[in-house]
Amino acid sequence: MKNFERLLVTAALPYANGYIHLGHIAGAYLPADIYVRFKRLCNEDIIFICGSDEHGTAIEISAMKEKVTPKEIIDRFHNANKSAFEKLGISFDIYSRTSNEIHHKTSQEFFLNLYNKNLLTTKSEKQLYSEKDRRFLADRFVEGTCPICGYEEARGDQCENCGSNLSPLELKNPKSKISGDTPVVKESVNFYFPLEKFQPELEKWIKTKKDWKANVKNYCEGWFKTGLKDRAITRDLDWGVKIPIEGYEGKVIYVWFEAPIGYISATKELFEAKGTPDKWETYWKDKKTKLVHFIGKDNIIFHAIVFPAMIMAHGDYILAENVPANEFLNLDGGKLSKSKGHGILVKDVVEAYNPDVIRYAIAANLPENKDADFSWEDLQSKNNNELAAILGNFVNRTVVFAQNKFGNKIPEHKGKTRPEVFKYIENQKKVIEDCLNNYRFRDALNEIMNIGRAANKYFNDSEPWKVIKDDAEKCGGIINDCLEICHSLAIAINPVLPFTSEKILGVLNAGKANLAWDNIGKPCLKPGTELGGNAILFPQIELSAAKEEEAKEEDNLITIDDFKKVQLRTAVVLKAEKVEKSKKLLKLQVRCGGKEKQIVAGIAEHYTPEEMLNRKIVIVDNLKPAKLMGLESQGMLLAAKIDGKLKLVGIDGDLPDGADVS
Ligand code: MF3
Ligand code: ZN
Repeated sequence: MKNFERLLVTAALPYANGYIHLGHIAGAYLPADIYVRFKRLCNEDIIFICGSDEHGTAIEISAMKEKVTPKEIIDRFHNANKSAFEKLGISFDIYSRTSNEIHHKTSQEFFLNLYNKNLLTTKSEKQLYSEKDRRFLADRFVEGTCPICGYEEARGDQCENCGSNLSPLELKNPKSKISGDTPVVKESVNFYFPLEKFQPELEKWIKTKKDWKANVKNYCEGWFKTGLKDRAITRDLDWGVKIPIEGYEGKVIYVWFEAPIGYISATKELFEAKGTPDKWETYWKDKKTKLVHFIGKDNIIFHAIVFPAMIMAHGDYILAENVPANEFLNLDGGKLSKSKGHGILVKDVVEAYNPDVIRYAIAANLPENKDADFSWEDLQSKNNNELAAILGNFVNRTVVFAQNKFGNKIPEHKGKTRPEVFKYIENQKKVIEDCLNNYRFRDALNEIMNIGRAANKYFNDSEPWKVIKDDAEKCGGIINDCLEICHSLAIAINPVLPFTSEKILGVLNAGKANLAWDNIGKPCLKPGTELGGNAILFPQIELSAAKEEEAKEEDNLITIDDFKKVQLRTAVVLKAEKVEKSKKLLKLQVRCGGKEKQIVAGIAEHYTPEEMLNRKIVIVDNLKPAKLMGLESQGMLLAAKIDGKLKLVGIDGDLPDGADVS
């Protein structure tokens, strides 16, 4: 029996002040994407919502540190993250952003709805205010002397020296981090949401959720035991959604109040773009919609408790059916975090590896019930020993056989029945469905790969290489079976490995007409069809490459002696020309002290040969020569790159070529 008519799936809106990394992917986005792709294959009515969370002090602080506007920060990270998600095949129907007007309006309406029902309370509290900055200074905008240990650069919320938790008012000698101004104490009124009042209703509601994951339920029970407290939902800040009430100018709605409303705003935006602007309401108001929030464990309180309470208070919207939160993914024991982000950022990883290999390695290690580990060595072994050995191998041996013995066409299947393995696959389909419907994605992947294992066994046991010698027709039947199994595999792996699924369909020349979950285990191909080009799906990954990534991640500190090994020198460009047939390369003749060298550099998309001429640059002088497009390069020049833009590292003032840089 089907209880729902449509699905609304959300994945936590990432903050737009950092790059998405593999920990985020394992926490929310990959499981969500697998789930959504599966449901789409089942032809369910489903939308998948995400976007950037663009308010909050963290973003203001980043902007202040970089001396740019918050807008510049959010644009940079919004675009970078949007494209990183795309490259990894995370298939949102919309990747919106909370700086959009529609979101400001939607959250203000939500706020006003509660305000007009007299549900919100206010509280006046003493806060630090800077006359010079003309604003209240939130925790992280003040610095001063720690009252406990005397450390002079303690933050408003915490002393980094002695670890004490502080409030800005406790700091001695407080200073604004914006201007250095000495703030004064001023009263400020803020709104509170009556969370305490909603505890009984929340507890009752969660009790009905028999199928929620144990880790999520445990968190909630913990919170209930301590007792829920009312929460401040406005802040004395500039950057954010303004409070839509007179007398509260200069204040914004707290980011954790408005961000989840972003799911609603993004849904509105999605249907506006589709030309059916009213349709968002069915998704958020009709009880026949199943709402599922995919998040990491640090977001449980907001999605399982605070946002539902907000929805209860508002009254018009549906509550979540499930909140399948994951635990953390550790990178070789250490937490994957933004600060130690090197090498695990999605934007970098997708450049180095087949996105499906990354998806596979993470899906196989999802921290569904407890923290899990990820390592490059494991990714390499998963690629070589599972993806290549089971899946790639089966598709390849089948297609090569058809190429060599059946003129690269799908042979006829003359037998009346299909072998047992098809029954097995049909049964696996149900087993996998059950896993996916219950958010057990690791198990699902294992069961999917079991189809691949069974497929190889069928190939081995039927020995087509022997059968071909005296019964070509029977052999054709076997290869037809195997090609059909490839097709079933292409469907079954599609939610986890969408790019590979498409490749296999391409090899089978099958198109997407039969790409539907129900076709797993069912013959779909047309005998006589010419097969497409066969490609190795999963080339071997060398251990050294994986290890290097790991080494980089583990230890990116070097000693001064390490650094001294690199001889950096100034050089002047004597000649510059384009390298034929290359979009990226310029060939440079440079002089560095007494000698001349040729450097082939990947800068052609950023500098013309004319711009390079006579320019002073910094080069690595003692680099082992290497060949690029057949040309020897005897060094490397230094350039900085951000978001695809590249700038040469230059020299301040006049310096001859050949000078040591250190
Ligand atoms: N930006 C938050 C984080 O990265 C998640 C916000 S989820 C939302 O932890 F529901 F608030 F949007
Ligand atoms: Zn201290």
